[in-house]
Formats: sequence, C-alpha cells, structure tokens
Amino acid sequence: MEEGHANFGSRMGAILAAAGSAVGLGNVWRFPTEVGNNGGAAFILVYVICILVIGIPIMVSEFVIGRHTQSNMIDGFRRLAPGKWWRIIGYQGVIAAFIILSYYIVVSGWTLYYSVESVAGQLAENRRYDEYFQAFVSNPWLSLAYAVVFMAIVHVVISRGVQKGIEKCSKVMMPMLLLIIGILVVCAFSMPGIDDGLVFLLKPDFSKLTVSVVLSAMGQAFFSLSLAMGCMCTYASYFSPKTKLVSSAMSVAVIDTIVAVFSGFIIFPAVFSVPGIEADAGPGLVFITLPSVFDMAFHSVPFLGYVFSGLFYLLLFLAALTSAMSLHESVTAYVHESLGMSRRKASFLVSVSCMALGMMCCLSFGPLREVTVAGMTIFDLFDFFSSKILLPLGGFLLVIFTGHYLDGRIVKDEITNRGTIPSRVYGVFIFLVRWVVPVAITMIFVRGIIEML
Ligand code: TRP
Repeated sequence: MEEGHANFGSRMGAILAAAGSAVGLGNVWRFPTEVGNNGGAAFILVYVICILVIGIPIMVSEFVIGRHTQSNMIDGFRRLAPGKWWRIIGYQGVIAAFIILSYYIVVSGWTLYYSVESVAGQLAENRRYDEYFQAFVSNPWLSLAYAVVFMAIVHVVISRGVQKGIEKCSKVMMPMLLLIIGILVVCAFSMPGIDDGLVFLLKPDFSKLTVSVVLSAMGQAFFSLSLAMGCMCTYASYFSPKTKLVSSAMSVAVIDTIVAVFSGFIIFPAVFSVPGIEADAGPGLVFITLPSVFDMAFHSVPFLGYVFSGLFYLLLFLAALTSAMSLHESVTAYVHESLGMSRRKASFLVSVSCMALGMMCCLSFGPLREVTVAGMTIFDLFDFFSSKILLPLGGFLLVIFTGHYLDGRIVKDEITNRGTIPSRVYGVFIFLVRWVVPVAITMIFVRGIIEML
C-alpha cells in the first residue's frame, strides 16, 4: 500500500490523467449526438463559449480545492469549512460520480462489445444494425456480461493505485487514443459527404439557438470536462506543488475540445455520405448509424471499412476506460481516505455496489424497459438527473464556495504556486468565479427548467 498521500509521478502524467478523465464517451458519443440533435455549428459555438467562460474556471476551482487540501472532495470541503454545510457539495459530487459511473459502464460495455465484434469481423456480417443493436442491448445477460468485464478492468487499474494504475494506464492510452483519432480524421476527409459535414459543423445557423440548446451545451461542457463530481478535485490532490493549475486546466480543456470536435469531423461527413441517414439519430448514432455508414462509405474497399470501424470502437473503448477510472477514483478515494479502508477493499466495495446499480441500467433496455419515471427509463433518468440537474447545481455551489467563501489568499497561493508564477490570470479567474459563472449557470438553468415544464 502507498504510504501517506499518493502523487502522480510527473507533470505530464498528471495532465494526461486529467485529460483522460475529460476525454470519454462524452466526447465521442454524447457530443456528436448533442450536436446532431441541437442543429450543428451554433451549438458548437455556444459549447466552446461555455468551456471557456464556465468550464475552465470551475475546473481550476476544483484543482485549487483538491491540491490545497490534498484530499478527496468530501474531505476537502470538510477541511476548508469545518462544521459547515459546504461539505454537502462534496457528498453530492461523490454520489453523482457513483450514479454516473453506474450508467457509464453500461455504454462502455457496448463499446467493448462493438470493439470485439468489429475486430472479429462479426459486425460487418450483419447489415441490419438497428436490429443488431436492439438484440444486443435487450439481451440482458450479454450486455450485462460486457459491463461486468469493463468494470473488472477499471477495478484492476484502480486497485493498483495512483502511479502504477491510473498514471501508467493514462500515459499509454491517451497517446494511443490521440493517434487513432488522427488517423480517423484523415480518413473522414476522404469521404464524399465531407462538404456537407463541414457546413453542418462549422456554419452556424442561429435560428436554431433556443434556451434548451444553451442548457444542453452547458450540460455537455460540464459532462465533458468531468466537472463537479470530484474527479478533477481528487486528481488535483495527486498533483505536485509545481503543477501550474490554470495552464493545466487549459491544456485539459483544449485536448478535450479538440477530441470532441474531431469526433464530429469523423462522424458527420460519414453520416452525410449516406442518403437516408439523419444527423439527429440520437444515442444510437454511433452504434446503429455509424456501422452502416462505414459499410457504405467504404463499400468498394471493405477492408478499409473493417479497419475504420475497428479503430473507431477501440477509440471509444479507450476513451471510456480512462474516464470511468476517474469516476471510480473519485468515490474510491473517499472510501479509502475517509473511511479508513485499504485501497483494495475500498475499490472492491465501489466496484461491486456500482455494478449492482449498473445492472438496473443495463436491464432498463430489456426486462425493465417498462419501468419509467416521467417517461424516462432508469438509464435515461440517471443521465438526465446527473448531467442536467446535479452537474449544474454542483458547479454552481462550487464556484460560490471558491469565489465568496474561501479565503482569497488560499486561492491566490494555489493559482500562483505560492507566488512563484506571475498571476495575471488571477484577477480574471476570480471575477469569472465570483460573478460570471454563478449568474450564467443560474440563468441558463432556470430558463431551461421553465422551458422543460
Ligand atoms: N468527462 C467524461 C466524458 O467525457 C465523463 C466523466 C468522467 C464525467 N468523470 C466525470 C462526467 C465527472 C461528469 C462528471 O465522457
């Protein structure tokens, strides 16, 4: 077992781990889905603004809390505000991480299944991808089995610890992921639908901008940057005192946004290359639409289609794995540090209990399909509740805490690494955190909720 508090071994490792947390299904699966549903370029523009103005300041706030207290999110708040209610932010974060992980592993299990099937050449044999997908997700045992295998992989990494598990894994997988995405973008540019795809992604049509589009963009920004759930806070507690918080947050945001937009570049030209397929196909987009898109786009060279789809699902799988690790770690760090359990036992407890919840999400595509709340299945409910409600709420409370409660000297010390780096950005940061972010979140959140009712 690690003695004292664990640390990342290098700055590069720390950034790659945090970027690994950020880059996930949110980028490759959820982002294109949201872009498709919300009308393309205008959504992307709002999304990028949300990342810059809201996302980065929240991430830096989490970094400040995590590194200053050297602990998980719940303990972090306990130390900074002993005896105060602020620790509720920590609890809601860790609980939300647990909920997100439980449905995240379900979709991650799908990515594992599709990777295996496409490498084995099975995927290309089945032309009816919608039936194929339905048959898979509604077969409770098969999809459950893949979710369990996925969880087992995450479990092994987490129980190995911070340096030997998370950091080592991120250092290998992130470069692989970036390489794969690079190859796929190059391929995508040779597809016939590239022009339509680029117009859809780059030419904003502002008539499509509604408040609910803005709320979706903000929710997506939170989700994609892994905010407000203790992931970034926990990882920052493993940062060295020399890590520059603001520039690290920016690197993570840049990598994350590039991967998201590139995923759009990979998916939409392909979608527009095939007549009859719509960009707003929903969550099934990358599992149902894409395989047939690959088929048709590469029908003259089936081998390329095979390589393309194999690489694509591998990309999805790697991205899911590093993010799931961070969600798991957020909960495990709390159980391990605060409840005094060994890391092994803590991660085992988290894996098993989360799997139990994940099982319900899995089954909500099959036997539990009829169990709905407000028209949503368990799976949809978990996604809605965590990303549209808990994330904005947690983000809001977090910046109120950092901007208005926390001693400004602590924040300044952390941001300037005790005065050793110039603090030009400090003023901008504190202004955003105090005023802009809370007001923006409130406005978007309240209007969005009203519109939904
Ligand atoms: N950011 C990850 C993704 O894009 C998912 C994720 C990891 C996450 N940790 C999180 C989302 C914390 C919300 C909160 O897929």
